[in-house]
Amino acid sequence: MLCISIEEFLFWKKKQLSKGGDIQSFDFLLDCMGGVSTSELKLISINSKGNLHLKKSLEFLESVWDDHLIKSCPIQYLCGISFWRNLKLKVTNKVLIPRPETELIVDIVLNIFRNKLDKLFFAELGTGSGAISIALALAYPFSKGVATDIEQDALEIATKNFINYSKQSNLKFYCGNWWSPLESFKGKLDLAISNPPYIPRDTYEKLPKEVKYFEPKVALLGGEDGLKHIREIIQKAPLFLKENGWLILENHFDQSEKVKQLLVKYKFTSIEVVKDLSGIGRFTIGRYK
Ligand SMILES: C[S@@+](CC[C@H](N)C(=O)[O-])C[C@H]1O[C@@H](n2cnc3c(N)ncnc32)[C@H](O)[C@@H]1O
Repeated sequence: MLCISIEEFLFWKKKQLSKGGDIQSFDFLLDCMGGVSTSELKLISINSKGNLHLKKSLEFLESVWDDHLIKSCPIQYLCGISFWRNLKLKVTNKVLIPRPETELIVDIVLNIFRNKLDKLFFAELGTGSGAISIALALAYPFSKGVATDIEQDALEIATKNFINYSKQSNLKFYCGNWWSPLESFKGKLDLAISNPPYIPRDTYEKLPKEVKYFEPKVALLGGEDGLKHIREIIQKAPLFLKENGWLILENHFDQSEKVKQLLVKYKFTSIEVVKDLSGIGRFTIGRYK
């Protein structure tokens, strides 16, 4: 631990922020690498007397901040951590940084399955860091979950994240294309969830560089119209869901009408578009008969 005066620290912080970037990212860095929590930062902004303990030197923290500013590398990748719901997840550039809007998927499930003691059998397709599946496995301790991804590297991160939170074995990870690793679970799922890659190619090409150059293309690009993977997932879902089983999908801001039509085509009922906190139709859900 390094000990510096709060006055010196605040002067240094102001200098770093004057170079660019946003305060949330800087405070994230201080929390994850410097060992200074957000609540501690609030306290010292009120009372700047005394000393502060840091886990890393100011030079080291400054070099990470400069990397973030110069290369546009997301601060979560530089710190190797992302906060999502109440989880602290390991992330590398092999997984998408889980987005705040995706947190609502868990609330949609909690709203449908109100009894936490339910013995749900759920699948998540394209688990990435494991965020959604881990949150569900923890929320429903008697559930059984299976989570897939095409990227073995992503599954290794998801597995580490799960082990970090649970000693249980109620969540298993499988590598492969969407439903294909789940052949033995046909007709058995109460619920399937996916936040698949859904960005149309022309939008993908114009993404900000912190996304396009750092986050995995396989996690973002949804083919020419963005719906390539959503189509495949919906088309095969009836084979895997139980009667009345739910399918919950995240989609791009302007895709919900098309996703709805696909669900109708494949004989889903109770179809609904759920808005995110910005009022965007971000999730499309339905039941298989
Ligand atoms: C948008 S990310 C979602 C990650 C995570 N579920 C989340 O919400 O943060 C999509 C994920 O789908 C995976 N993926 C892409 N193509 C796939 C495929 N054909 N089969 C299975 N998973 C795939 C990617 O590797 C990535 O982890």
